[in-house]
Amino acid sequence: MAIRDKAVDAEFREVGPEKLGADMLREEKLEPILDGILDRYGYDFRDYARPSLDRRIKAFMKSEEIPSLGGFKERILAAQECMQRFLLTMSVSVTSMFRDPEFYVGFRRDIIPVLRTYPFIRIWHAGCSTGQEVYSMAILLAEEGLYDRCRIYATDMDESALRKARDGIFSLQAMRKYTANYIQAEGKKSFSDYYTAKYNSAIVNSSLRKNIVFGHHNLVSDGSFNEFQVIFCRNVLIFFNSRLQERVLELIHQSLGMFGYLGLGAKESVSLGGYEGCFQELDAKHRLYRKIA
Ligand SMILES: C[S@@+](CC[C@H](N)C(=O)[O-])C[C@H]1O[C@@H](n2cnc3c(N)ncnc32)[C@H](O)[C@@H]1O
Repeated sequence: MAIRDKAVDAEFREVGPEKLGADMLREEKLEPILDGILDRYGYDFRDYARPSLDRRIKAFMKSEEIPSLGGFKERILAAQECMQRFLLTMSVSVTSMFRDPEFYVGFRRDIIPVLRTYPFIRIWHAGCSTGQEVYSMAILLAEEGLYDRCRIYATDMDESALRKARDGIFSLQAMRKYTANYIQAEGKKSFSDYYTAKYNSAIVNSSLRKNIVFGHHNLVSDGSFNEFQVIFCRNVLIFFNSRLQERVLELIHQSLGMFGYLGLGAKESVSLGGYEGCFQELDAKHRLYRKIA
């Protein structure tokens, strides 16, 4: 069953009562537009969860002052820049360092001791957004003395998010919130050891970036590109319908070595794609799994 994230829904509630008409985004009207976007740009949104897809399209039309779905189709298929802006609306990049701090407590407690026995560790962050999750992992691995034997692959479909991720520059205001998360995640040092502050920004230490490879990967259309010991795909499945959730879990299953670890978001689970039998649930609360079949 596809699930919906209340937080995601809330984000678009601000759009307010729609002048656009309740039945405007009916399946038969939207399908040809999504087909057109796929043909013209190669982005496939047909299996994104409908309620949040509808809200995002409405929000986009409102911000671009497009009065009708016909106008949306015309504009998006005619102008690449319009598609670029639409992609930004479609990529909900909300993230933070040490998001759900207890998840990292569980990861450190249950998974790090096993990873310590591996000579080399490949990690994939699928849907890494602007990189905060990736740098959290890098910090944790550095504190456990494992960073130098890791290679971290961090991917997203959103190029602008990837650019920010590569830069590793975050506002000091955000860093204050991340510091609180880091402490709750039982970080071992002072969080400020991991960045240099300049004006109102913080730049992540280059020692944390050297083993990270950022790259474009679309979970809808791209395949497996390596075998990993750990995959994080957190807070991404919530945007997809059940068919796409199943496809992505299949891709993750293929890409994970036997006994590899999977971390999902707080509202996600392997049962979404019917993959319960292939994964052992290590920690139900924090959505940590191990591939067993
Ligand atoms: C809410 S963020 C999650 C970021 C991070 N994993 C976390 O939990 O904080 C969702 C990310 O999924 C990405 N995403 C959405 N659809 C995708 C797709 N088809 N392929 C790859 N990434 C996708 C978005 O661009 C966005 O950066």
